[in-house]
Amino acid sequence: MKQLLLMIGMGVLFSTSARAATNPLDGKAIFDKNCSVCHSINPPPKLAPPIVPLASRYHLQFQSKAEGVNHLAAYLKAPNKKNSIDPQAIIRFGLMPPVALSDKELHTVAEWVWEQDNQSMGRGRGRRFGVQGQ
Ligand code: HEC
Repeated sequence: MKQLLLMIGMGVLFSTSARAATNPLDGKAIFDKNCSVCHSINPPPKLAPPIVPLASRYHLQFQSKAEGVNHLAAYLKAPNKKNSIDPQAIIRFGLMPPVALSDKELHTVAEWVWEQDNQSMGRGRGRRFGVQGQ
């Protein structure tokens, strides 16, 4: 147990540079296990909106990664119409059920979701600047 805690501690320390390789809490792995039944990463959708367009929406809505990730982690824990960034999706797919994971796991997977916006690089960024300029 002590060793595990130490490993997690080290994972946090080195998280910026080496997260993908060494962190035992891997966002993609959490996604594959807990989210991919309903969410595809790219369109077409399965039972819920695909992750990449959702990530783009989060980038449009929140200025900083910390804000976006905190909002998302809270949403995963207790989805509700008021906090949804895409209320249309609730009408189309129904409300997402709460995810029963630890706060740390929710944050890890939320960070992974946030980072999926990078796949649409130019497009996401362009739109974000567009919004800021309005
Ligand atoms: C049982 C199916 C199901 C599972 C499992 C599921 N989701 Fe969802 N998710 C949905 C549906 C349906 C929506 C759209 C309605 C809504 O926003 O509640 C949604 C919405 C979302 C949104 C948009 C939230 C917002 O702010 O509007 C994100 C991001 C998301 N899911 C990520 C995840 C992640 C990450 C996991 C795994 C930890 C996960 N989902 C697991 C069905 C699911």
